[in-house]
Amino acid sequence: MSTRIEATFTPADFSALGDRDISQATCVVFDILRATTSMNTALANGAAAVIPVATIEEAVAIRKERPDVLLAGERDGVRILADQSGGVDFDLGNSPREYTEEVVKGRTIVSTTTNGTRALRACTGAKHVFIASFGNLRAIADWIEQNTVSHLILVCAGTYEEAAYEDMVAAGALCEFVWAQFVTGHFSDAAEMARQIYRVMQRDVESAMQYSRNARRLLSMPDLKDDVQFCCQRENLRLIAALNEAGEIRVIN
Ligand code: MLT
Repeated sequence: MSTRIEATFTPADFSALGDRDISQATCVVFDILRATTSMNTALANGAAAVIPVATIEEAVAIRKERPDVLLAGERDGVRILADQSGGVDFDLGNSPREYTEEVVKGRTIVSTTTNGTRALRACTGAKHVFIASFGNLRAIADWIEQNTVSHLILVCAGTYEEAAYEDMVAAGALCEFVWAQFVTGHFSDAAEMARQIYRVMQRDVESAMQYSRNARRLLSMPDLKDDVQFCCQRENLRLIAALNEAGEIRVIN
């Protein structure tokens, strides 16, 4: 079986996925700080589903149809308020620490974030779309091995229009875990670059965040600085969450 592993680092890269046939590919989406970490945390704490949408307007439209959903997300890192949404204060921001069992158990969350939810939507059409955080990389790697995935695309959400250091480190960790499965096939330079950055940084992922623009921004905000450490927790979640054809993220394993 021929194999292929590749990585994308910027919104320009993930937007280009729409021009390709990715119907046989497994995509893993990384927005470590913080969208994909928050989604996995919500699902681990019992949320029924997360619906990622690209815009505030889409989120508000879903709430009109389904008043029971929680509205979540951020713009410039902070919770979306009525003046940005045409009158609705969102229930949650994008801090994973907000997504406690008490708040999310049994609830469906509609989330819109600057990059993460756009990256997820860009993978629509892939065979599988998984949600990555440092907490569940081994679980995803095990699934990839057990299901003999042959085409893997690591989709890094980035920060605004640029590559994000933290996403590259996490994508590199997953590369490292599955490398034996892909090394005899095609591996892109981007996947190799991510893997090498991870190998340098693996002993102290939290310190590596000093190189991340997004981490420095969060660390400068008193209410959000603890999110960086929270998002660097490793292998504390065994769950695998996937985006399904209905556009919902649910736990599959
Ligand atoms: C994003 O989707 O761009 C982020 O997760 C940003 C953030 O949470 O600050």
